[in-house]
Amino acid sequence: MIAPSILSADFSKLGEEIKKVEEGGADMLHLDIMDGHFVPQITMGPPVVKSIRKITKLTLDVHLMVTNPDDNIDSFVKAGADMISFHFETAHTPFRTISKIKESGLKAGIALNPLTPISSVLDALPYIDFVLLMSVSPGYGGQSFIPSVLDKIKKMRTIIDRNGYKTLIEVDGGVKGDNLESLKKAGVDIFVAGSYIFKSENPKETVKKMKEILG
Ligand code: DX5
Ligand code: ZN
Repeated sequence: MIAPSILSADFSKLGEEIKKVEEGGADMLHLDIMDGHFVPQITMGPPVVKSIRKITKLTLDVHLMVTNPDDNIDSFVKAGADMISFHFETAHTPFRTISKIKESGLKAGIALNPLTPISSVLDALPYIDFVLLMSVSPGYGGQSFIPSVLDKIKKMRTIIDRNGYKTLIEVDGGVKGDNLESLKKAGVDIFVAGSYIFKSENPKETVKKMKEILG
């Protein structure tokens, strides 16, 4: 599945940008929520998600990069999110956070920074729908993929398969045409890409091309 991250889109014409990736065959939209605390930037909040909800039927994948995820879940549920992930590094009571998301009828995910070990999330795997493995430090689009994350993805895939879990693996950061194949081989289910899609000359064709590579 391909999840274009609108962080690199032109916010002055978001509707048109979303239409382009829809036409290209995007499976979902990845929405990066940054609070200026957990990460330096501030991006968007529930009102923007609510507006996006009105113009697309695509699955809305909300990636919370905020220090207090529990306080923010309800407002993103109301805004129309379909999936919410929060960072393990921010969660004091992750089981409660997962339950809150799932009780609202949404898919729940835990995000891990590139150097946060996979062991931190193993006990949560039976309870979450997806694990988001960051392949750049969260905070900005357009950074380079951190190579060691490839091995981390392979290890996570093995653990999930060996235990028969249904947890999907999402990768986020530095995803491009030239690493798609190795990421697919490593076992990724959901590919987030921001700058590779929205900074390209033709976002629609770029999504199409990605789909072709992934087969
Ligand atoms: C980074 C965000 C990403 C970002 C990815 O903190 O979580 O979703 O948009 O951007 P690219 O694909 O440009 O690395
Ligand atoms: Zn993200």
